Amino acid sequence: MSNHDTSSPGTLSAHVREEIDHWVAKFPAGRERSAVIGALHAAQHENGGFLSPELMTAVADYLKLPPIQVFEVASFYSMFETHPCGRHHVSICTNISCMLRGGEQLVAHVEKRLGIKAGQSTPDGKFYLKVEEECLAACCGAPMMMVDHVYHENLTPKSVDEVLEAVKD
Ligand code: FES
Repeated sequence: MSNHDTSSPGTLSAHVREEIDHWVAKFPAGRERSAVIGALHAAQHENGGFLSPELMTAVADYLKLPPIQVFEVASFYSMFETHPCGRHHVSICTNISCMLRGGEQLVAHVEKRLGIKAGQSTPDGKFYLKVEEECLAACCGAPMMMVDHVYHENLTPKSVDEVLEAVKD
């Protein structure tokens, strides 16, 4: 759990419940399932970057959905993590356009800089270097990476370093 979260693992904080209510209100009554992605985003963010089974079950309970409908969304989309990992998620695209323009070298550069391999988190829990991503639809800015869901394009090892240095704890 994050330092700011006083809820137990299987409960949702008041802030996360507010966020979920915000998403539920965007859809017609009875369509709570449409709020699952927004709800999981809020829960993952507050939980320091990943979703535990207890949290996913709590989201399902709050939305009055069968837990499987929340678990399947969390396990399908690459923006959700269902195992403990670092707080800041780094995804470097190595699909064709990015590969041709140095994406794989950027992965090697970041692995060396952080002292971890793709799929691992730094020991201080700050960064999680995700296993290589499929195309993130920013091919014209190749090579690119996403850090906490923000796109950075036309990267070089130097600009990658600058992006990572700017990430606050
Ligand atoms: S190939 Fe990297 S964003 Fe498309």
